[in-house]
Amino acid sequence: MPYLVVNVDHVATLRQQRLGHEPEPVAAALMAELAGARGIITHLREDRRHIQDRDVELLARTLSTRLHLEMAATAEMQAIALRVKPYMVCLVPEKREELTTEGGLDVAARVDALRDFLAPIHAAGILSSLFIEAAPAQIEAATAIGAPYVEIHTGHYADAPEGPARDAELARILEGIRTAREAGLKVNLGHGLNYTNVFAFADVPGISEYSIGHSIVSRAVLTGMEEAVGRMADIISTFVD
Ligand code: PXP
Repeated sequence: MPYLVVNVDHVATLRQQRLGHEPEPVAAALMAELAGARGIITHLREDRRHIQDRDVELLARTLSTRLHLEMAATAEMQAIALRVKPYMVCLVPEKREELTTEGGLDVAARVDALRDFLAPIHAAGILSSLFIEAAPAQIEAATAIGAPYVEIHTGHYADAPEGPARDAELARILEGIRTAREAGLKVNLGHGLNYTNVFAFADVPGISEYSIGHSIVSRAVLTGMEEAVGRMADIISTFVD
C-alpha cells in the first residue's frame, strides 16, 4: 500500500503571518498522524518563510511515524539533517523569489556534487530522495547518484488545463515512474496533488509515497470553519448586551 506523507508547511505559513504561536505545525502533524498519515514532511527553506528550525527539531522528537526533511543541497541544510536525523531527506531546488518549488532539481547537471553531498547523509543512516522531473536523463542521473528514492514532480500535471496538455503531462509521469522502477529506484510523487487529480494514479503500481500538503491544509481550514466559528459565536452569545 502506498503511504500518505503530509506536508505541514502551510500551517506554519499561517503562523508566520503573525509571527506568533498559532497554528502550531507540530500539533497539526500529530493530528495528521492520528488521522492516518504515515509520515510528515516539512521544507526548511533558506529564508525560513514558513517552517522554522525549532519546528524540525520538535517534529524529530515527537513524531511516531517518519520525518521527511525537504531541503536545498547546501552545507547549512546538510548540517541540520545530520543533527536532526530525519528518516529521509528530499533534495529540492530552491529560489527565494518562488512561491513554491517550481520544478524538479536538475540532478543530471550535478551528479558528482550531489553524490558527495549525500555521502555523509547516507553514512548517518538517513535515506534520500531527489525531487526530479520525469525525464530519462534525470532518472539516469538519480541512479548514478545512488539515492534510493526519487520524487517525481507532479506539479505540471496538476497545473495543466484538463485535456491534451494534462494528458501529455500524465503520460510523461507514468513513463517516468516505469523508467525509474526499472532502474531500481523507489518512486514517490508530489506537488499539486489534490482530492481530484490524485485519482489518476489509483491503478498505477510501484508508487511508494504521496507527498501532499497544500490541498490538505486548505481543506482542513474549510472543514474546521464551522466548529471554529460556532465556538466563538457561543462564547460571544454569553456576553452582556
Ligand atoms: N513535494 C515537494 C518536493 C514539494 O516541494 C512540495 C511543496 O512543498 C510538495 C511535495 C507538496 O506539494 P503541495 O503542497 O502542492 O501538496
